Amino acid sequence: MSAASEFGSIGPLLPDAMRLMIRDEVDSTNDEVRRLAAIGYGDGTVVIADRQTAGRGRRGAAWVCPPGESLAFSVLVRPAEPKALWPRLALAAGLAVAEALEIHGVSAGIKWPNDVWVEGKKICGVLVEAGGDFAIIGIGVNVNVAGFPEDLVATATSLLLETGEAASRSDVLAEVLRRLDLRRHQIGADFSRLVDAVRNRCVLTGKHIRLLAADGPREGFCEGIGSGGELLVSRDGVVERILQADEVRILD
Ligand code: BTN
Repeated sequence: MSAASEFGSIGPLLPDAMRLMIRDEVDSTNDEVRRLAAIGYGDGTVVIADRQTAGRGRRGAAWVCPPGESLAFSVLVRPAEPKALWPRLALAAGLAVAEALEIHGVSAGIKWPNDVWVEGKKICGVLVEAGGDFAIIGIGVNVNVAGFPEDLVATATSLLLETGEAASRSDVLAEVLRRLDLRRHQIGADFSRLVDAVRNRCVLTGKHIRLLAADGPREGFCEGIGSGGELLVSRDGVVERILQADEVRILD
């Protein structure tokens, strides 16, 4: 089935502010959205592609999704909120995906800051990139992936593997976009609502963790998420607020 026939009918199910552009193949949906932003496309433009030839994850890693099985899409946002708050879009996106997946029968947690986890394995990754006056929210969701390569099998999962049933990719996409349309507007004045919902799903809270912060590695006990969306990590009685980190790992 072509991407156009699979996703072409969901327009009426999407929030009014969103416009879906369907591609069979692109380099990266984030790059396609960046090109559209540069020629004036507006807030709410969504690009979904069945195949990405240069899909990427965080820290320059490749993001590979089997055509026809996963979702790879990006949303152009031109936030009203100050740029300093845009990193919060990653929390909004992860939360939107977790909420959408729950409707499809799994219990989804958030591995701060960007991943969605089901049963201790990653089911979705989020890559937020900023342009001059816009941001791109790139989302990859493992929907009907039947198996992963050996190096990922212990850490990755899909909706199909968790529920035993294939899901409609277009239904999952529509639900994520509906949730995202709500959550992305909570990065400013309503941020406490967003943070509360993320806290309820944070899989790191109460765990010993190790991470790589901007200025070096940290190890400690995760106390939860602070009011600004930062990770609270305690060690020797001192709580540190981590604003950004990579390679977050649970140690026990
Ligand atoms: C990560 O977990 O490292 C983030 C993965 C983000 C992948 C998505 S797929 C759609 C969009 N286009 C890309 O090239 N990357 C994001």
